[in-house]
Amino acid sequence: MNFTIRPMELGDAPGFNVLRRMPGVFENTLGLPSERVQRNVEGFQRLGPDDHIFVAVLEDGTVIGSAGLNVHPNPRMRHGAELGILVHTDYQNQGVGTALMKTVLDLADNWLMLVRVELEVFADNERAIHLYEKFGFEKEGLLRMSVVRDGQYRDNYKMARIRLP
Ligand SMILES: CC(C)(COP(=O)(O)OP(=O)(O)OC[C@H]1O[C@@H](n2cnc3c(N)ncnc32)[C@H](O)[C@@H]1OP(=O)(O)O)[C@@H](O)C(=O)NCCC(=O)NCCS
Repeated sequence: MNFTIRPMELGDAPGFNVLRRMPGVFENTLGLPSERVQRNVEGFQRLGPDDHIFVAVLEDGTVIGSAGLNVHPNPRMRHGAELGILVHTDYQNQGVGTALMKTVLDLADNWLMLVRVELEVFADNERAIHLYEKFGFEKEGLLRMSVVRDGQYRDNYKMARIRLP
């Protein structure tokens, strides 16, 4: 499969919206099936210099994945960022997530010189946890009943990767 990874553009909003609402994706993120493209457009327009969002796209322009870092704006937390990632259901488990993780972590390590990259993940999302552990993330704590999923309050892990210069 041929795909490229590049920074997100405003025109990616409809494709990103499809990903955000897609069964096989939205359940394990904080998405909702009711999410509107307009909300994604407004979200993209609000992105600032501390937001670094990439997309993985096929040759025909189809958005098949996205990953990003949001660097903490507080001056005393600027050595850290929150990571988010999602891959189109039809293209999961084929290396797209790994390629996106390499891209955002190269930015974190070599260009932003971040010390701490953190994220939250559903405690039963074994594929995502495997991916994060493969890149050096460790579980730091269990956030009990922190997020709604399919009629239940579910546990999340807080995970982080520390990299000292
Ligand atoms: C989690 C996600 C981002 C991973 O991306 P991906 O493109 O599917 O991941 P990759 O194909 O690069 O790698 C998957 C890895 O998990 C492994 N894996 C697959 N299913 C697994 C499972 N049930 N348990 C443990 N590991 C699993 C694969 O073997 C592979 O590991 P390897 O590279 O060591 O062989 C993607 O599946 C996704 O978007 N899922 C839905 C949304 C989501 O969960 N987002 C993360 C929210 S925190």
